[in-house]
Amino acid sequence: MTTADGTPDRLVIRRPDDWHLHLRDGLMLAAVIGATASRFARAIVMPNLKPPVVTAAEARAYRDRILAALPPGSAFEPLMTLYLTEETDPDDVAAGVAEGLVRAVKLYPAGATTNSAAGVRDLAAVRPVLERLEAVGAPLLIHGEVVDPEVDIFDREAVFVDRVLAPLVAEHPGLKVVLEHVTTAEGAAFVAEGPPTLAATVTPQHLLIDRNAMLVGGIRPHNYCLPVPKRALHRDALRRLVASGHPRVFLGTDSAPHPRAEKESACGCAGLYTAPVALELYAEAFEAAGALDRLEAFAALNGPAFYGLSANEDTVTLERRPTTVPESVRAGEDEVVLFRAGEALAWRVAVDRADGTTPPED
Ligand code: NCD
Ligand code: ZN
Repeated sequence: MTTADGTPDRLVIRRPDDWHLHLRDGLMLAAVIGATASRFARAIVMPNLKPPVVTAAEARAYRDRILAALPPGSAFEPLMTLYLTEETDPDDVAAGVAEGLVRAVKLYPAGATTNSAAGVRDLAAVRPVLERLEAVGAPLLIHGEVVDPEVDIFDREAVFVDRVLAPLVAEHPGLKVVLEHVTTAEGAAFVAEGPPTLAATVTPQHLLIDRNAMLVGGIRPHNYCLPVPKRALHRDALRRLVASGHPRVFLGTDSAPHPRAEKESACGCAGLYTAPVALELYAEAFEAAGALDRLEAFAALNGPAFYGLSANEDTVTLERRPTTVPESVRAGEDEVVLFRAGEALAWRVAVDRADGTTPPED
């Protein structure tokens, strides 16, 4: 179906996966899991809990808590990651990968983002883990920002690409690496021109907003995330990257819920809650980039191919039906404000069944 001007008003794509997601724990997990499980088949679950998920045993316990929090009948599969520390045991990582529990290891430069204090200060200290990952074929997922206080926050990703990522990729030619939530023209170009072992995830917010959305007319904490949104020229470079249909660029929402009070604060947390509207936001961004026909590969094919998994067989349907982003969801006593709360959306995912699957096409 198309509208009068020839643009489609219905889009059926294979069910997507989310290759970068924060599910948190406890009441917050219970509040947010349904939104992802009703739309996505699988998600790479970030390990930056307090305390972080460092060992395979901790990942197993966290996976069990996620499975227990799922709505009855849900087929959602959490793909677990380990939080890399300078004490991480390569044997534990390899054993977790061998049993199919651990899908990737996450590198947070210490201090780069929410709950990253236990991250890596000295890459030399984690070389044995990187070598083991290379040997077993599991990806290293990277929060790509330097923490050098001399480096301006808007430059931290580009400097990371130069100082850390380029040498790392050169020194570990067999290591699969994902530059998570890429936000800059420099990061986009590095991945676009990089080897087959290098991939990137892109969030909906970095395709939709630039730094003005965070700072013009007042500080807007619900547009503040890390890496921080950059100038419009970077947003446009990301749009071109996804519109190019690059096979190693895929969906990672970075949906990262925080209680309202921790966002609307004198020192507010970084992270946007997008899971309930993420597919709609991606559809809007891909349409703005003139690339709606590339959405399915980005959302449902490129990620599984990189991780060596098969794509999902069932589908989701996006309809051009104006809706409004809900203001917030409750998590116990807390309230979590959505990105774009109260604003209009052009697309809507048809989630019609209690188990979250979309009914077959008529
Ligand atoms: C994430 C979080 O809140 O855990 N925040 C964010 O701004 N993206 C951490 C992260 O992915 O950097
Ligand atoms: Zn994240």
